[in-house]
Amino acid sequence: MNVHGKHYRTIWVKEDDDRVVQVIDQRFLPHKFVIEDLTNVDEAARAIKEMHIRGAGLVGATAGFGMYLAALEAPRDSPEAFTAFMEAAGEKLKATRPTAVNLEWAVHRQLDAMAEAPTVDEKMATAFQTAKDIADEDADFCRRIGEHGVSIIEEISKRKNGEPVNILTHCNAGWLAFVDYGTATAPIYEAHNRGIPVHVWVDETRPRNQGARLTAWELGQHGVPHTVIADNVGGHLMQHGMVDMVITGTDRTTYTGDVANKIGTYLKALAAHDNGVPFYVALPSSSFDWNIRDGVKEIPIEERGEDEVKFIQGLHRGEIVKVLLTPAESPATNFGFDVTPRKYVTGLITERGVCEASEEGVLGLYPEKRQ
Ligand code: MRU
Repeated sequence: MNVHGKHYRTIWVKEDDDRVVQVIDQRFLPHKFVIEDLTNVDEAARAIKEMHIRGAGLVGATAGFGMYLAALEAPRDSPEAFTAFMEAAGEKLKATRPTAVNLEWAVHRQLDAMAEAPTVDEKMATAFQTAKDIADEDADFCRRIGEHGVSIIEEISKRKNGEPVNILTHCNAGWLAFVDYGTATAPIYEAHNRGIPVHVWVDETRPRNQGARLTAWELGQHGVPHTVIADNVGGHLMQHGMVDMVITGTDRTTYTGDVANKIGTYLKALAAHDNGVPFYVALPSSSFDWNIRDGVKEIPIEERGEDEVKFIQGLHRGEIVKVLLTPAESPATNFGFDVTPRKYVTGLITERGVCEASEEGVLGLYPEKRQ
């Protein structure tokens, strides 16, 4: 993705110092473009927990690099001491955010890869290579999601005789939520790049406003026509034929097709179902949970602090400020995610193709996961 015409990923190793990992600090977007240095595992864990970076794929990639930073700090006297340190680092990273399955997937991928390396030096080299592989694979899978998903948009465009395809998305499953391209946005960018007219309805996504702040910003950087809407507007638009399809991302999807995504996604799926609007979810295989059958009952839902609901952040006279929205004494509650049952999902767009949101559909694309 380009920012002011320059290509960026969301995470990379510093050019002249490979002991430093750099990320875009998303807390300041869209008003300020700030790059943060991460130099140890505690800084990586804090960046995930306090949402300097966020989004399923980027949380996973940051955990991968967090393990690499931990390897730089780990004791080198014996492989056993090194491994014990790395396991503790993995627990620290996994404790930061519970819903996005990419986090534990990346930590275990690192631990499994390092277990194959006999010496401390080889374990360290493996941690570095695996972190880069996780990031490269994330970007590549998102690019492929775009190639598979674009045919759905193309089909709708043909039916509309080239009129703009109106796509509604929730939260930010864009470039900023992954290493590059995004998931929900990848088919949109691909359609736009191929000259297929698209227009995106961007849900603001309270309480942290990832749609209004991040999705709107990155679509704007890429020149994709879009309109920010309050979270409550989608149902009205769908009733009036103003939405041709919905595409969201996901933080964890069961192998049976239940989708955990940013809070409010379920309500959009219900409205889409009631109005016959196709509802697609785009994800890389790292966001599948291969152990859980029932998403509503079994996916852990993160609860965050009440201040995210009570305060709102914006730009005032050139400064980023937070203002109180509610009566100071009113309590607030802040569930970060909800689960959309598979029956409301038209299809899953993955790096291997599009499938039905069902056990058969998912395992048909990933036969090696059949027990
Ligand atoms: O809390 P966040 O911002 O890390 O939430 C994750 C998300 O951005 C969304 O739920 C997204 O739609 C799926 S992850 C790409």
